[in-house]
Amino acid sequence: MPEPLSKEMARSLIGDSPFQRLAALLEGIPSGMTPINLSLGEPHHRYPEVAARAIAADLDPLGAYPAAAGTPAFRQAIANWACRRFELGHLDPQTEITALCGSREGLFLAAVTAALESGKKDPVALLPNPFYQSYGAGIVAAGLSPVLLDAHAGNNHLPDIENVAPDILERTVLAFFASPSNPAGTVASAERLRSIVDTARRHDFYLFADECYSELYQSAPPAGALSVSEEGNFSKVCVFNSLSKRSNLPGLRCGFAAGDPAFIKALIRMRNLCGPQVPVPLQNAAIAAYGDEVHVAENRRLYAAKFDLADEIIGTWPGYRRPEAGFFLWLDVGALGGGESFALRAWQEAGLRFIPGAYLGRRGSDGVNPGDDYVRIALVDDLDLTETALARLARLLN
Ligand SMILES: Cc1ncc(COP(=O)(O)O)c(C=O)c1O
Repeated sequence: MPEPLSKEMARSLIGDSPFQRLAALLEGIPSGMTPINLSLGEPHHRYPEVAARAIAADLDPLGAYPAAAGTPAFRQAIANWACRRFELGHLDPQTEITALCGSREGLFLAAVTAALESGKKDPVALLPNPFYQSYGAGIVAAGLSPVLLDAHAGNNHLPDIENVAPDILERTVLAFFASPSNPAGTVASAERLRSIVDTARRHDFYLFADECYSELYQSAPPAGALSVSEEGNFSKVCVFNSLSKRSNLPGLRCGFAAGDPAFIKALIRMRNLCGPQVPVPLQNAAIAAYGDEVHVAENRRLYAAKFDLADEIIGTWPGYRRPEAGFFLWLDVGALGGGESFALRAWQEAGLRFIPGAYLGRRGSDGVNPGDDYVRIALVDDLDLTETALARLARLLN
């Protein structure tokens, strides 16, 4: 049974980032071939022109501070998009949505806000292991004890929130949950999401649903945490999303949080004190991007073509699994000595740079890091470069 981490172990959640650790691993070691960087989850497909045009169309708002929660037009555009995409009857732009400078800062500040709002004794927070780094930073900054829930092949890389011991759930202030998951790219069914939402309500904690890969699916659109709530009731649920992955706009820094109006109110209050505001021309770009689905469908087509290539080139490797969503390969290389030594070898022999899975997770209270056997490989470049990288990878695996 997962237990809260000790104070010392919790501090390891705010150590060097996976990218700093990779740089340290490879420092001074020459690459065996022309380097190809597959470490960063930064989409390199073209962003939609409508977004760029919207920025240039009106720069006057640069003369005033933007509202922390976003413009009414931005929030309305998010409400329209989310209602269309997740088949919601209603999402109130004023009370159930706030703008974010990308979901990363929102995930961090959400943890701090939830902790300040909570009156629970010996409070803890649940997070998947491996996890996106700002969950850990938010939990530690908020003074909550982290409980790492291992995500592994046995649970389809989706942490077992519902099976956490009831006494821990009673102390839980918030749970981070990502579907599509990161880095494995697995998807929770609507039933599964509903069961997690029910658990959160029963034990009175917030479910923070990180949905930033929701649009990069390969077959059916994944359910979202708002879409499984009964009509109009988002209590205890807040979703986080952005244009970074959907629209290849990681540099725009624009996203949103939506859900429980009591929580959104508290988050906006906190963001009014210290949150970064999104410049209005960038919110206008977001409105344009959320109004267009053509570029998103093209994006999905490009990722699918790369996963087709991966199927073809490394598909027979027993540790290979085509993800349901996202743009990462989460490759099991346990049979080759584990993720860290394989990442080092891939750099030395093939010039491939990718993240050892262990750097994205931590040893839990049981001493196991579920990322140990894996490497995370970002397929964010064009088809030609991806093919070159996969061919080099195949040679390493053989
Ligand atoms: C799982 C996950 N959540 C959140 C984010 C943050 O993305 P952004 O701040 O660009 O919305 C990322 C970015 O890589 C991510 O992988």
